[in-house]
Amino acid sequence: MKKINVCIAGGASTWTPGILVGMIKKQNTFPINRLILFDNNPSRLEKMGEYAKIVMRDYMPDVECLYTCDEEEAFRDVDYVFCQIRTGGFAMREKDEKIPLQMGVIGQETCGPGGFAYGLRSIKDMIELVAKIRRYSPDAWILNYTNPAAIVAVALDRAYPDDKRILNICDQPLSLLLAYSRLLGDVDYKDMVPYYFGLNHFGWFTKILDKSKNNEDITGRIKNMILNEGFAPADKEQRDPSWLVTYQSVKDMLELDPTYLPNTYLQYYLLPRQTVSHLNPEYTRANEVMNGREKRVFAECDLVIRENSSKGSATIEQEFGKKDAHGDMIVEIAEAILNDENRYYVVIVKNDGIIDNLPKEALVEVLCVLGKDGPKPFKVGEIGSYYKGLIEQQYAYEKLTVDAYFEGSYLKALQALTLNRTVGDQQLAKKLLDALIEANKDYFPELKK
Ligand code: G6P
Ligand code: MN
Repeated sequence: MKKINVCIAGGASTWTPGILVGMIKKQNTFPINRLILFDNNPSRLEKMGEYAKIVMRDYMPDVECLYTCDEEEAFRDVDYVFCQIRTGGFAMREKDEKIPLQMGVIGQETCGPGGFAYGLRSIKDMIELVAKIRRYSPDAWILNYTNPAAIVAVALDRAYPDDKRILNICDQPLSLLLAYSRLLGDVDYKDMVPYYFGLNHFGWFTKILDKSKNNEDITGRIKNMILNEGFAPADKEQRDPSWLVTYQSVKDMLELDPTYLPNTYLQYYLLPRQTVSHLNPEYTRANEVMNGREKRVFAECDLVIRENSSKGSATIEQEFGKKDAHGDMIVEIAEAILNDENRYYVVIVKNDGIIDNLPKEALVEVLCVLGKDGPKPFKVGEIGSYYKGLIEQQYAYEKLTVDAYFEGSYLKALQALTLNRTVGDQQLAKKLLDALIEANKDYFPELKK
């Protein structure tokens, strides 16, 4: 079996240890020759890079592991690039969340005005990153987690319309399947055939079948269990309080409308009042992450480096038996492509007639089988007026955000924010836009009036 070269762009992210565990679990079916961690933050990268070298030496000693800030060294002759960059880091995430909250609007990294600002920052860096990767590895698969994935997907499709090897993905549908699996207790997530439609962070499971039992429809059972017992992430013991509240909102949405199983992210659009009341403008998810996961992960890197051993490490050893949606999913997707496995995944693809009554060029999130030629989507057909209305409004917002970037247009940016369900008021949209422009002086393109 040919061994492959993988680069993690955004290699100094707190998610990297989970990806390393994913690679260790899959080392027989996804054999790595060279692993490169690439990042533009040298001090963070040095820590994560030294840590990764020790982990690889301990568990996959044949892998050549290196870290670099040099683009050519990172991207030359690679087969897969896993992208998970965060332009502006957690410091800008904090602003994305706090600025809207100060005005009584949802403050979230990918939804509402925060997602808009993060989108305008990510587009530039992702377009440049893809150009650099393509200079040195024209055929590499680019598996992209970079958020807001919905907006990034639209922008990359516009910048690289003929590139068939960019796949935008999100781990939330998988996280939800893992949560259903824990709730049911007797269905492995791998046996689930999860029919899903929507945009990224804006969609619904319509039907879930259990392959292992003659495609039994288990959707009703899942709904009933959520309604009777509530809902929590599969790894609830490891989650911060805000994620537990978020999962509970699925029950609230389902009680009001049991048609489909909503993605957790719909709480920001369908239950904005309740959700805002749960958010603390002084202490947001960014603070929770900076004080929690970020500290934990980098303390673990320090410890592994000091002891020059990752055996017994909390970020590695204790994670083997667990499922980490983020780390496991990206490695499994790469593995499905490499070995032409045709497994089921919910990923982001061009609509092109999958959903009949939505624009052809929209980037939708749907069930696909994934093999060597990339994702092959299942047809969804026509969707009901309610879903069509919601999705068209959200897609128009995403498209206008991308238009604002490419055209440098203040007006398009204002229209985008006005259209976002979490805002919905022209004057408020202007106030938000001006505050976000001010806070993002170092990142936004010039938006001309
Ligand atoms: C989910 C989403 C990701 C997002 C992440 C944030 O997994 O699908 O797109 O990046 O949540 O998690 P955090 O723990 O950083 O709030
Ligand atoms: Mn996501």
